[in-house]
Amino acid sequence: MRTDPLRIFLAGDVFGPVGLRAIQSLLPPFLASESVDFCVVNGENATAGIGVSDEDARAILAAGADAITGGNHSFEKRDFWPVLADNPAVLRPMNFPEAPGRGAAVFEKAGVRVAVLNIQGREDMYPLDCPFRAADAAVAAWEAESVPPIVLIDFHAESNQEKEALALAFAGKVAAVVGTHTHVQTADERVLPGGTAYITDLGMTGPLRSVIGVDPALAIKRNVTQVLYRMEMAQGPAALRGLLVEIDPATRRALSARRIEIVEK
Ligand SMILES: [Fe+2]
Ligand SMILES: [Fe+2]
Repeated sequence: MRTDPLRIFLAGDVFGPVGLRAIQSLLPPFLASESVDFCVVNGENATAGIGVSDEDARAILAAGADAITGGNHSFEKRDFWPVLADNPAVLRPMNFPEAPGRGAAVFEKAGVRVAVLNIQGREDMYPLDCPFRAADAAVAAWEAESVPPIVLIDFHAESNQEKEALALAFAGKVAAVVGTHTHVQTADERVLPGGTAYITDLGMTGPLRSVIGVDPALAIKRNVTQVLYRMEMAQGPAALRGLLVEIDPATRRALSARRIEIVEK
């Protein structure tokens, strides 16, 4: 059995072609230089901001991701439903009452089992099944297995308080709880009591000079006029953002959490 710490990287929402470019150019050298064993990428905005296509999912996996998580945009393009249904590495939030695809998967890699759970918050979002109860049931089922996995939770949520509450509810029960969805990286990364790595939001992997990924001029115009002009993605240099977590395979709990932002030259 593996004894040295497992190194896991979780990257925030990949936004459009600029985000995909960052994944293809910045992720592979980062994973190699940090000897990352397992990588999760949130892909809910990868294909033109809405969901992830088969081609783009393959590109993210080819760049080194082992799992791709989703969010509120996962189902918006019907064309991408087969990706959720057919690719076991592509997840969407578990607590949608009925939807294509799956919200969790267990992977075997680097001599360990890693479970990835994708759930979505409710505050200022949709009235989904309770994320706390959904996660509780999934974690309890894994804990009952003969070789329980290391559990990583991508909590796709708008509300800071909901994210902190869920993280503290699972502190000591899982290896990591990371927030996604807001596209703004928070500076509150830490290891919670009991050994659970946490950050309220991983931040966006996408255009640096943007309003959560959108062209700034258009975003400003929309805010000033309150007219819903069609949003366009910002261009320019990209940033890869996420959290690097070290996990003790014996305890299946986090030893450290380091926030990552790498900006394209
Ligand atoms: Fe997003
Ligand atoms: Fe989202």
